[in-house]
Amino acid sequence: MNDTSKSPMAQRRIVLVLIAAIAGALVGYGLFLAVGPAGPQSGTIGATGVAQVGGPFELIDHDGQPVTDEDFKSKHMLVYFGYTTCPDVCVIDMLKLTDTLKRMGDKADRLQPVFISIDPERDTPAALKEFMSRFPLSIKGLTGSLEQVDQAAKAYKVYYAKTPADEDGMYYMDHSNYFYLMDENGGFVTFFASDRTPESIAEELLKAVS
Ligand code: NI
Repeated sequence: MNDTSKSPMAQRRIVLVLIAAIAGALVGYGLFLAVGPAGPQSGTIGATGVAQVGGPFELIDHDGQPVTDEDFKSKHMLVYFGYTTCPDVCVIDMLKLTDTLKRMGDKADRLQPVFISIDPERDTPAALKEFMSRFPLSIKGLTGSLEQVDQAAKAYKVYYAKTPADEDGMYYMDHSNYFYLMDENGGFVTFFASDRTPESIAEELLKAVS
């Protein structure tokens, strides 16, 4: 491998990662304000939690079929927002989810993981399907119009923003990267921040779905 550490591309990537980290911290703080003592670390919201996380959405799945939040209510839903051309964190998180599902064994069937694109301009159902094929088949990729995706992201208090395009028209999406656990009624249960290991997420998910 060449030493790319000083290339403008690499520097750009570092800046983007820093921006994403700061944005993530801000969203975490927003969640902290919304959910109280659970704070920016992952945590369970008690019965008194008033967080308004989640809500109705209408999207298109990776097979091109329209779906709404109602379609997922027979199971607990684990919701993640990202995009398929993400240079790093989305793939890392999907691999973490893969490991988590494996650790849940048969009970992973009780969970419906969804990956909602915040980059619907590039993430067509076909692009999403290709990306999802790298991970367990149970994970459903969802996309939609800009408005549909924005509505879903707002419901989940997700931060995302398009970076300015470079001279080749290439752009990145800054986005928060939490997993949101919802119950069978679409109610918010908890969220998992990137500090969590697959082992500890699986343990908490097993308790939730049992
Ligand atoms: Ni990403």
